[in-house]
Amino acid sequence: MADFKSLPGFREFYPEDRAVLDHLFKVWRQACRRYGFREWESPVLEPLELFTEKSGEEIVRQLFNFEDKGGRQVSLRPEMTPSLARMVGARANGMAKPIRWFAIGENYRYEKPQKGRLRAFYQLNADLLGEAGPTADAELMALCADCLLGFGLTSNDFRIRISDRTLWFRYLEGQGVPEPKIAGVLNVVDKLERGSPEELLKAMNLAIQDTACDAVKLLEAARRFAAINSIADLEKLAAGDAPMMARLEDWRQLLSTVEALGFRDCVTIDLTIVRGLAYYTGFVFEAFETGGDARALAGGGRYDTLVKKMGGPDLPAVGFGMGDVTVRDLLQSKNLIPTYADGPEFYVMILGPEARATALADVAALRRAGFRVEYNFRDGKFGKLIQTAENIGASYALIYGGEEVAKGETKVRCLRERVEGMVPRADLVPALRAVREEGIKAILP
Ligand code: HAM
Repeated sequence: MADFKSLPGFREFYPEDRAVLDHLFKVWRQACRRYGFREWESPVLEPLELFTEKSGEEIVRQLFNFEDKGGRQVSLRPEMTPSLARMVGARANGMAKPIRWFAIGENYRYEKPQKGRLRAFYQLNADLLGEAGPTADAELMALCADCLLGFGLTSNDFRIRISDRTLWFRYLEGQGVPEPKIAGVLNVVDKLERGSPEELLKAMNLAIQDTACDAVKLLEAARRFAAINSIADLEKLAAGDAPMMARLEDWRQLLSTVEALGFRDCVTIDLTIVRGLAYYTGFVFEAFETGGDARALAGGGRYDTLVKKMGGPDLPAVGFGMGDVTVRDLLQSKNLIPTYADGPEFYVMILGPEARATALADVAALRRAGFRVEYNFRDGKFGKLIQTAENIGASYALIYGGEEVAKGETKVRCLRERVEGMVPRADLVPALRAVREEGIKAILP
């Protein structure tokens, strides 16, 4: 017997789960629009090279790739940033800057499915292109925070940890790591918190092969640097190093902008963050939940060279991605998922064949007027139909029997209050609008 189960790491959304997803999308969309971002979309299937050349090593290992029937090497998108860079690059010259774009789409990564990590997940992407200064980074951090606060979370529930690949580059150069080896060393730094000492040493030895560096000393130095969590400590370290001092000025501007926008509580300095993706060039950040499993909710940073590498103009860029899986888990744990009433507003009860044609004409008129309406396909008894109306979560029943039809009226029953009123059929639409606004009392004598 064939196995018809869905694939590991892929979710089925029953309507009540799909409604939660819609809630996430709605809050994200509202936040992005408030910041002036416009929505875009890209293909789910892309040429394989787009990711093998532009995403990080880790993502490349996780690609869902195959050969299509035309012999092309293709991959489902593991992320949207390379597609964004291609699209913006192609038309950047004619676009007003800065460009503020957001997208919500499903991404696919062949990861080991576990809590918070799946093989198919939705991701909000927000990106700002055309502004190189740290105020743009601050704007994205503020938006990232607002995308979480919009759910009713507070600044105690999550923290955006900010780090800086520019500082890391400068620091590692100072430790004697040749420039071409730095990205590899940063991949090891990315694992400092998770890897065992043996694994880290092995990875570091590999990263600094053919250099004069000592892996043990470099790991120690990286740990010391990663432990820095204040501007004051950075100042001590940077003393006398002009490029580092200049960079600290960017840090001050970043933090003062975040503060002026009102989000200082939401962010913290944390140099352990370096991000696994290859294209980041400056400030990077990740949002984590503060309690529970401390999982990543969002991640992003500056990627000033990607658009040019994709064949576009030299266009600085900064952005982040926020996943639906961990955000949903967090909202669930805080009881912040609203229950949506998605049943019909009106259940039309047709009690006999003589009422059916009239009732259906009203059903059609009400639907045209924008009401959510259902009705019974087969004639039934009053008690059973009331039961059905309650079971499907309707708010009101509209009763059509021979008597009502003969009088040209409809009986409206509030299912919760068990109160009824009569409405002339000719006034049905305005009367039910009033009921929707004010409740059944709108039509009671
Ligand atoms: P990322 O850190 O790979 O960055 O992903 C961002 C967020 O997507 C993560 O923090 C997490 O919430 C979610 N996510 C990633 N992988 C999974 C997974 N397997 N299962 C569930 N959720 C996942 C990027 O993708 C960058 N392209 C973000 C970006 C946009 N940078 C600049 N612009």
